[in-house]
Amino acid sequence: MYYPDELVEEVRQRSDIVDVISSYVRLTRRGSNYFGLCPFHNEKTGSFSVTPSKQMFYCFGCHEGGNVISFIQKYENATFQEAVKILADRAGMALPESTDATARERENRRAQLLAINKEAAKYYYAQLRSDSGKRGMEYLIGRGLSDETMQRFGLGFARSTRDETYRYLKSKGYPDDLLRESGLFSFREDRGMTDKFWNRVIFPIMDVGQRVIGFGGRVMGDGEPKYLNSPETPIFDKSRNLYGLNIAKSSKAKNIIICEGYMDVISLHQAGFDQAVASLGTAFTSGHANLIARYAKVNVRQGEIQRYKDILLCYDSDGAGVDAAKRALSILSEAGLRAKVIDMRPYKDPDEFIKGLGAEEFQKRIDDAENGFMYEIRMLEGEYDMKDPSGKSSFITDVATRLLRFEDPVERDNYVGLVSYKYDVSAESVNEVIKKQALAGTGVTIKPRPISTRNGKNDMIEAASLPQTRLLSWLCDEPAIYKVVNRYITADDFADPLYREVAAILFEQLEKGHCDPADIISVFPEEEQQRRIAEAFHQSIGDLESLAMKEMALRDLMINIKQLSLTRNDRSDSDFGYIIKIRGELEELKRVKIDLQDIDRSTAFSQKEE
Ligand code: CTP
Ligand code: MN
Repeated sequence: MYYPDELVEEVRQRSDIVDVISSYVRLTRRGSNYFGLCPFHNEKTGSFSVTPSKQMFYCFGCHEGGNVISFIQKYENATFQEAVKILADRAGMALPESTDATARERENRRAQLLAINKEAAKYYYAQLRSDSGKRGMEYLIGRGLSDETMQRFGLGFARSTRDETYRYLKSKGYPDDLLRESGLFSFREDRGMTDKFWNRVIFPIMDVGQRVIGFGGRVMGDGEPKYLNSPETPIFDKSRNLYGLNIAKSSKAKNIIICEGYMDVISLHQAGFDQAVASLGTAFTSGHANLIARYAKVNVRQGEIQRYKDILLCYDSDGAGVDAAKRALSILSEAGLRAKVIDMRPYKDPDEFIKGLGAEEFQKRIDDAENGFMYEIRMLEGEYDMKDPSGKSSFITDVATRLLRFEDPVERDNYVGLVSYKYDVSAESVNEVIKKQALAGTGVTIKPRPISTRNGKNDMIEAASLPQTRLLSWLCDEPAIYKVVNRYITADDFADPLYREVAAILFEQLEKGHCDPADIISVFPEEEQQRRIAEAFHQSIGDLESLAMKEMALRDLMINIKQLSLTRNDRSDSDFGYIIKIRGELEELKRVKIDLQDIDRSTAFSQKEE
């Protein structure tokens, strides 16, 4: 659909940018601009600005920017025309039907191709259920599919004919040029039109709007090629569609599973995992990532921090599958999405896994899915001689380069903590290598120091005491936040032994509904301890203007504290249960939205309020 410039301009003028963006992002006024959390990259502080006078947005963090139309295009993963339509609807403007002849013609052809595919799908479907489709039905039953499943996916059968499907569609009145464009037939001067799919079970491929855009056909048994697929056509763009998404998009599951094949998706759905989709053997693309971003989004309500369902990769466990998973991880990551990897071993793919071990075991594999970054570096390990100190050091350098990809310092720190733990290098050393890598090519050098082990150094905790003291101080200033803090943090999470003791006493007081820091100080006889505690209780939490900023700051503090507790070196290194528990709590903290709105202020002696 083509809209004339004047019309686009009118839509733009009737769509105030602050007004529009406010329905997606919580904006706070600062001077003549508005600020909020950027919806296009992960961040904890608002660097996303909207300028009413210019009717533009710009993010100082990721440098994304534009006008109200580009915002909608980007946010809704929409084309220019779609964005204009969305805004016009919003402004209550009626848009004319297309006046451009070629555009109308193109639309018309697309509609016809969709009609051909729909007709063909019905034809294959009927054949599967007819006498001549017996072999296909036996094959699918043999693969464990129920009738209900076959119906849900509209499976069909193409019997061995030369051109029966062609003749059938021709009899429906479709002209040859359209039938050729549909990709369902082969054309040769000497033989004319012949059916592309014959003697195969048929998998119709649907877009999110339930329209049949292409087909896959599988040989029954061995034979080459195993699968035959529709070519790309004006209605079938392989890099922008995911098999099964038409169903998975309304799944209630808390995650979305990306696998490789038709049968993987179908088996998973039959086993109750209706959140599975497949990229169908083609490489995972940024188009796929955008689709995932669009459908894995949760809570897009106003003011919510952008959250996604867990994105789980479930690729084949062979070498090709591992390579594909690594590529998909990096493409997802470029789109700002984090994924986890499901381990299928000893089975090849989810279809075989479900047959072998069942749905319950699969759910366990989902629960145990490995963080994508940790998966990536675990795969990297194989490329280095980890027993050789210089091999290990090159490995850490390689890891550090990859850590640089994380722009968000909190997220990066979490990984530094995990890497430090897993490979027994001090977080300080990892950070030093990261810094060195970041400075590479800038002319600035930092003095190399040997990489130290985690247990070698303790000053990491000194440098990182800030979040611990901040939280202690904040709790005293505003005891009401204890209700929230208590949900995620225990005194045991404090890495520093002194603050840990202080926290234990403070938490006990708060539990009983009072707060008396002076009383806590008197428990510690040593002057140095008293000095440090007093200092801790006088930390400023900074100028937190809005409730939203407070909520974010509190979450960041708690994340920092958790992450720091991972580096506690008084734990035994074999205490994996502890690490796994903290890792889980960290993940949760990163997902939750801290809500300080409802805390009971009457119990707070809040000097900082107002
Ligand atoms: N594929 C394809 N053409 C092939 C082989 C594979 O298009 N010749 C695509 C199909 O979408 C297939 C996916 O790649 O589903 C994964 O391939 P593979 O792992 O070989 O097949 P499975 O999904 O395991 O198929 P099946 O279980 O039916 O053997
Ligand atoms: Mn398989």
